[in-house]
Amino acid sequence: MLPAYVPNSAAAAVGGGIPIDLGRNWHDGKRILGDGKTIRGFCGGVACGCIIGLLQIMAQAYPGFSALPHMSILPVILLATGALVGDMVKSFFKRRAGIERGGSWPFVDQYDFVVGAFIFLFIGDSSFAFSTLTLPVIIAILIITPVLHRVVNIIGYKIGVKDVPW
Ligand code: CTP
Ligand code: MG
Repeated sequence: MLPAYVPNSAAAAVGGGIPIDLGRNWHDGKRILGDGKTIRGFCGGVACGCIIGLLQIMAQAYPGFSALPHMSILPVILLATGALVGDMVKSFFKRRAGIERGGSWPFVDQYDFVVGAFIFLFIGDSSFAFSTLTLPVIIAILIITPVLHRVVNIIGYKIGVKDVPW
């Protein structure tokens, strides 16, 4: 899951500049996505997710890592891209629900990138998805993700890359 987890934090670290929605509003008069979704954050985030995935692929040459699922470049790209597309789709519906950029949307904020990454993986590389994402693994991910999300966001807030600790 590292290629799906890293893009979120990386986007917060490198994000900023031109928003993906180019500052435009939806029919309801609210922003399409908001200033929290930027082109640099998206591209930088996906790139960092791919870099960590490439390191995982390289690490497979060492016996200590042989118990882990066999990674290849396609699932890495799908996980990293799916995570930030999920995050972006979340922001679209968050704005429609009237929640400001950066406002808290419990559960959805914690799982948007997992759902996006899973959907991309199941569509783009179903054999990898079905062999790797078994029920116990999915349950473990659903338990670990909100904990990790919270811890990383508090760190991000303390070091100043996130405006809020959630
Ligand atoms: N970020 C970005 N581009 C993205 C995703 C994130 O630039 N595609 C950066 C933004 O600086 C954002 C920060 O990462 O503020 C944290 O991301 P997130 O919590 O997803 O955004 P929010 O600001 O909370 O906005 P939203 O309410 O739309 O989720
Ligand atoms: Mg947020």
